[in-house]
Amino acid sequence: MRTYSRRTLGLTNFWRHDPQVLEHIIPPRGGEFPDAAALALLINMVGDGRALEFGCGRGRLARLFDSDLYHGVDISSHAIEAAVETHPDYEFSVIEPYADLPETEIVFGVHVLLHIPDDLIDVMVAKLAACAERVIVCEIMNAEFSDEIFWPPAMNRDVETYDALFEDCGMSQQQSRAVSCDCYKHQKITVAEYG
Ligand SMILES: C[S@@+](CC[C@H](N)C(=O)[O-])C[C@H]1O[C@@H](n2cnc3c(N)ncnc32)[C@H](O)[C@@H]1O
Repeated sequence: MRTYSRRTLGLTNFWRHDPQVLEHIIPPRGGEFPDAAALALLINMVGDGRALEFGCGRGRLARLFDSDLYHGVDISSHAIEAAVETHPDYEFSVIEPYADLPETEIVFGVHVLLHIPDDLIDVMVAKLAACAERVIVCEIMNAEFSDEIFWPPAMNRDVETYDALFEDCGMSQQQSRAVSCDCYKHQKITVAEYG
């Protein structure tokens, strides 16, 4: 049986229960879509399949998808409440942390895996790989940018780390691109697809 550090449990509880989560949804600079260049790549990669957004926050990306093809899930009931209120035509659900995800064609997460601690990232990647044939991860992929002192901590990883984690689940990288966005002066956001 695995045991988890107090920090890992504290972080999961923060995302799950703290209303302050709503202040940490979007990268700090540049309005509602400071990551627009990366999101354009993401939308293109997702295509018109049935998509599950993992860690959807308050659903800011929902409107970029057809409501029949989109389902957003998050462990934060505060975030999901806000998502339901602002996007009544879309489907959103609160999920249990690290539980099985609903089956779909494609699952994607934007600025989510970097918030999953190292002692749970393999569990999380396995859940993503099990629920869909294609997985897309969109976030800064540069371990040097990792900031575990800041709260909530960001466990940024290199794309090679995700490649290895998905390979352990029988998936390989299909494509990846890194783009500059308004939110970070010196960092690019990477969009990587596994299948
Ligand atoms: C930085 S926010 C990004 C939200 C959204 N993807 C966006 O870009 O607007 C990170 C989100 O991941 C969610 N999250 C954190 N840990 C999670 C976990 N273990 N399972 C599912 N969602 C999680 C948080 O509740 C939060 O809504």
